[in-house]
Amino acid sequence: MIIAIDGPAASGKGTIAKRLAAHYGLRHLDSGLLYRGVAKAVIEGGRDPADRDAAVAAARAFEPGRYPASALKGDDVAKAASQVAAIPQVREALIAFQRSFARTRPGAVIDGRDIGTVIAPDADVKIFVTATPEERARRRLLELQGRGEAADEAAVLADILARDARDTGRAVAPLRQAPDAHLLDTTHLAIDPAVRAAIDIVEAVRAGRKPA
Ligand code: DC
Repeated sequence: MIIAIDGPAASGKGTIAKRLAAHYGLRHLDSGLLYRGVAKAVIEGGRDPADRDAAVAAARAFEPGRYPASALKGDDVAKAASQVAAIPQVREALIAFQRSFARTRPGAVIDGRDIGTVIAPDADVKIFVTATPEERARRRLLELQGRGEAADEAAVLADILARDARDTGRAVAPLRQAPDAHLLDTTHLAIDPAVRAAIDIVEAVRAGRKPA
């Protein structure tokens, strides 16, 4: 089984994907880490993430697992990731790895922005996870505060809106809901009920029912 989970930053899609994978015994790939890994390599090489040639070279030389996920979580890397992700040749260089991950038994849950639309258009189940920008900014703020980082709510919201604009506005593989994806709005859901709702969607699709 292949489950595609797409949605904007801080929508809850990463946690939902991880928990769905554990629930169904599937492998999990956070595809954002691939773009973050490319961005990190560009920054580490002393180049600008807006430098196309540097970003494309880093994507073509990409080795999964080169950086631990903990090294890719910073806001500087997140911003650079959304810049390199807008470059078509960067996306192209990362397609084969994602498709082969999806095809490997016993199947996978992959989360990102274009999984249901480009990477795995034939996924068995597609879920588009969303929440209002204000709620996503609130979650992000709590996360930063939890890590002891100083953060300003207005700045966090501005950052989320800028990233949404880059991810939905780019010409290639923009963030959008696939026509056959099921919408899961987590604005008013804590993580446990959100995961439950995702499992309900998967179960309904597998049983050939229309999700509630
Ligand atoms: O999910 P994330 O915040 O870790 O993603 C980082 C950036 O990578 C995000 O701004 C957009 C990009 N991305 C993408 O374009 N396509 C994906 N499938 C996953 C992430």
